[in-house]
Amino acid sequence: MRSNLPYRGYNGRSIMTATAKLDACYESVKGKIGEFAPKIALVLGSGLGAFADEIDIVATVDYGEIEGFPKSTVEGHKGRFVFGRVGDVPVVIMQGRVHFYEGYSMQDTVLPIRLMKKLGAQILFLTNAAGGISYGAGEFMLITDQISTFVPSSLIGANMDEFGVRFPDMSEIYDRDLREAILKTASEVGVELKQGVYVQTSGPNFESPAEVKMFKILGADAVGMSTACEALAANHAGMRICGISCIANLACGLSDNPLTHQEVMEAADASAPMFKKLIRASIGAIGR
Ligand code: HPA
Repeated sequence: MRSNLPYRGYNGRSIMTATAKLDACYESVKGKIGEFAPKIALVLGSGLGAFADEIDIVATVDYGEIEGFPKSTVEGHKGRFVFGRVGDVPVVIMQGRVHFYEGYSMQDTVLPIRLMKKLGAQILFLTNAAGGISYGAGEFMLITDQISTFVPSSLIGANMDEFGVRFPDMSEIYDRDLREAILKTASEVGVELKQGVYVQTSGPNFESPAEVKMFKILGADAVGMSTACEALAANHAGMRICGISCIANLACGLSDNPLTHQEVMEAADASAPMFKKLIRASIGAIGR
């Protein structure tokens, strides 16, 4: 199948092709940023968005200004692209991401990732707030690999040939060299960085204790509702990927407390200063 054929949404209606939609978004953003070409695309997770306010900003584009762009509806997610520089490194930052649980197709959920690639980004730096299976609240986990089997693949639909092949390899989604550079940076700036496997659920519900037990048996160290689908699409598109989870809580069943979004946000807020330090230094190290 070629990517310029109309594809059908979940409701069976013929809708704009994924390629046409992406091209329209690209033209719209390109018109606002001119020749600025980001090298690194950074996605900021729940409660971590403030980092984008502290960089040398060149331009901002609200998602609402981009024709056809899926808008984030989640509290704590601002919903804009911030273009600018972290030190000398040109970056595009998603201050707020798009989640599958908001009701978008997977194709729309990862549209921003493909858009940032099309705008020039070669490296994708993913961050999120996650539930800890092997780690506790306040710890940081460098993502070494992922389990995305519990959500539909973000590559379902006509293959977007301009990005990658129909059946892409996934043997090293999270780039080894980037991981090594970030581990080294973390130790230099005095931030303890654990490592582990991230599993994505569809959300929006948190997991049951039995599900968390299952994820542990399957080899997952942290669980969340984003990231893996984005990494998958970016790997398809040939980007180099790295990711850090900020553990906001013990996953359900591992502590006695029922979980709330409020608790996740507060924990992410509390981790934000260390997290920002780590992200800033890591961008310096990998953007050289
Ligand atoms: N589960 C899923 N997603 C999350 C969690 C969790 O416990 N905490 C933060 N995001």
